Amino acid sequence: MAGLKIRKAVIPAAGMGTRFLPATKVMPKEMLPLVDKPLLQYGVEEAVAAGCDEVIIITGRGKVTMEDHFDRAPELEASLERRGKLELLEKVREVTKLARIVATRQSEPLGLGHAVLQAKEIVGDEPFCVILPDDVVHGDEACMKQMVQAFEKVQASILGSEEVEGDAIQNYGCLDCLVDPNDPQLLHVRDMVEKPKPHEAPSQNAIIGRYILTPRIFELIEGLKPGAGGELQLTDAIKALIQFEKVYGFRYKGVRHDAGDKFGFLKATVDFALEREDLGPAFREWLKAKKF
Ligand code: UTP
Repeated sequence: MAGLKIRKAVIPAAGMGTRFLPATKVMPKEMLPLVDKPLLQYGVEEAVAAGCDEVIIITGRGKVTMEDHFDRAPELEASLERRGKLELLEKVREVTKLARIVATRQSEPLGLGHAVLQAKEIVGDEPFCVILPDDVVHGDEACMKQMVQAFEKVQASILGSEEVEGDAIQNYGCLDCLVDPNDPQLLHVRDMVEKPKPHEAPSQNAIIGRYILTPRIFELIEGLKPGAGGELQLTDAIKALIQFEKVYGFRYKGVRHDAGDKFGFLKATVDFALEREDLGPAFREWLKAKKF
């Protein structure tokens, strides 16, 4: 594997979003906005910032609004043009030009591994990245861009990783790994443990929703025995991948929020709003004036 490039991103978005019910009864969780942009659009923009030109969205029943979001909206555009709302018109059009969007369906939400497997034919025989849109990372440089730069050096699968504090590791997949002596961001993965008891965790390096994977992952997902509820877990396939190929962890720079969880979503909203030139100053003042 020399000189391979990451051109395709898979964004699994076929889950049920039960933690956000009733909001997600008919509206996809991935369309919830942080300020005024849906989570899914942040994911697509991150893929584009990382150099991908094709984004494969895994959708499911009742989630067609996700595809529509990236499509032209002729009536809306004509109306904005007539009313001279040119800045908004530009925003609406920009979304349609981001990347080639391909949507494919997961007939039932049978786990993250099963969702990624739906992209097998479209990805083909090349390494690709996976971005979970409800894990939002913000910082100076897009998380996946940093990971792609690392991939260009190591030419192997890479798992986005965050060093978490104390007992929090029990909520994540945890890496059994060694830090690269020359690059403290790079971890040599020996194994993975799913949601370990804190005293049994081999490290504090948690896996987050960013992956670069080699195409071998597809056959390994196909070879998995379905777990509880018929689900196929991506982490089980990655554990198998470690037996065949070198797999790295990568400690990205940036702040991550789990926007699939209500508390994380609120924190992400505050961070993103404070950063906005148009809203940030007034929002900061309002927050300061609140009597907590
Ligand atoms: P989550 O587990 O966070 O999403 O999956 P969920 O299952 O929709 O949420 P809850 O737990 O019920 O609230 C992470 C990402 O993987 C996708 C989800 O859409 C989300 O973007 N996913 C998950 C699939 O595409 N298919 C699945 O079978 C499971």
